[in-house]
Amino acid sequence: MYFQLLAAVAASIGASNAAITRRVACPDGVHTATNAACCALFPIIDDIQTNLFDGGECGEEVHESLRLTFHDAIGVSMSKGAAGQVFSRGGADGSIITFNDTEVNFHANNGIDEIVGEQQPFIAAHNITAGDFIQLAGAVGITNCPGAPQLEFMFGRPTAKAPAPDLTVPEPFDTVDSILARFADAGGFTPAEVVALLASHTIAAADKVDPTIPGTPFDSTPSIFDTQFFVETQLRGTSFPGTGGNQGEVESPLRGEMRLQSDSELARDSRTACSWQANVNQQAHMAASFKAAMAKLAVLGQDLSTMVDCSEVIPVPKPFTGQAMLPAGLTENDIEQACASTPFPALQSAPGPVTSVAPVSVY
Ligand code: HEM
Ligand SMILES: *[C@@H]1O[C@H](CO)[C@@H](O)[C@H](O)[C@H]1NC(C)=O
Ligand SMILES: *[C@@H]1O[C@H](CO)[C@@H](O)[C@H](O)[C@H]1NC(C)=O
Repeated sequence: MYFQLLAAVAASIGASNAAITRRVACPDGVHTATNAACCALFPIIDDIQTNLFDGGECGEEVHESLRLTFHDAIGVSMSKGAAGQVFSRGGADGSIITFNDTEVNFHANNGIDEIVGEQQPFIAAHNITAGDFIQLAGAVGITNCPGAPQLEFMFGRPTAKAPAPDLTVPEPFDTVDSILARFADAGGFTPAEVVALLASHTIAAADKVDPTIPGTPFDSTPSIFDTQFFVETQLRGTSFPGTGGNQGEVESPLRGEMRLQSDSELARDSRTACSWQANVNQQAHMAASFKAAMAKLAVLGQDLSTMVDCSEVIPVPKPFTGQAMLPAGLTENDIEQACASTPFPALQSAPGPVTSVAPVSVY
């Protein structure tokens, strides 16, 4: 009876799956995929999880790999190219690695040489283009960070034919006007989508903004894809974590924490402040809007009709169930309310005395 019931359940599950998708067995004998082309990605994912991300951590290599998805993809313009002519290709094409001797030296790419050098051997060892690898590594890497969304992954970017021109990557000392204009020109991103993409800074640290304190995080939880970044950037800045006077840096509210001038201004500008605040303690909203904006970013300049949807190979991210908090010792009075239409959400303060934020290990 028990076995008959199990068999009946198994048969009905099998039948309903078959009605939706027809999966093929991959040559590795372990995985299945709806499109056989996606099978090639499983060994690459295993390799990077073990050997690039230290066995599945949300550490420096994941943070840098996510930054690299952006710095490669944003190298495109809907209006003009390097010499003033229109160029439609470019974008998320791997040119930052294929033409590393050019792009790595751009000022806005300071520090990117490290992850470029770390990713190159993996690209050489597998049958994958630099453009595909960069976006795959970013999507896989963030699944190690609790709270991250399962990003889409489109497969099939051809090898880049030319480097991106300089000055396509925004700098932390750029004005909000210029940042919003650059994102609009790169891919028609709205101000709300720019805010959505900046959820990335919840798993981020700076090595080069103040070179005396490498690994200084942008929020108190740089290995969790939570909404703390949106809380902490809204607090009144009180001091610099290292030296003062660095270009693109403003005062932060916590010892050991870095605040970029661009993040500070986007949190307070009337065009972006309400989208910024809307992420506070809204984990599902933040994750979903980041996922949607990343889906656009990851295929900038690419021909979708020649690509295969391999989103199914991206692992299920680690879950996050915590609540956003005001850091210990701070209260709602320390919030610099900037959204004119909605009050800042009520949050609990973390218990205990004021703490400082530990650096991200840079080994
Ligand atoms: C207004 C746009 C942006 C500006 C001005 C900006 C600027 C910066 C700066 C200055 C750093 C520190 C680099 C260093 O000193 O090591 C940084 C780090 C980072 N950025 Fe952005 N960023 C922007 C948007 C983005 C976007 C759209 C993404 C991804 C979707 C992203 C992902 C990251 C990550 C993950 C890090 C941390 C890297 C690490 O910890 O090693 N950023 N960003
Ligand atoms: C670019 O990559 C090559 C090959 O790995 C390496 O020899 C070179 O130093 C890299 N250039 C930069 C600027 O990182
Ligand atoms: C390499 O990848 C391409 C595109 O995914 C595929 O068409 C080709 O057959 C692969 N080559 C080998 C040797 O696996």
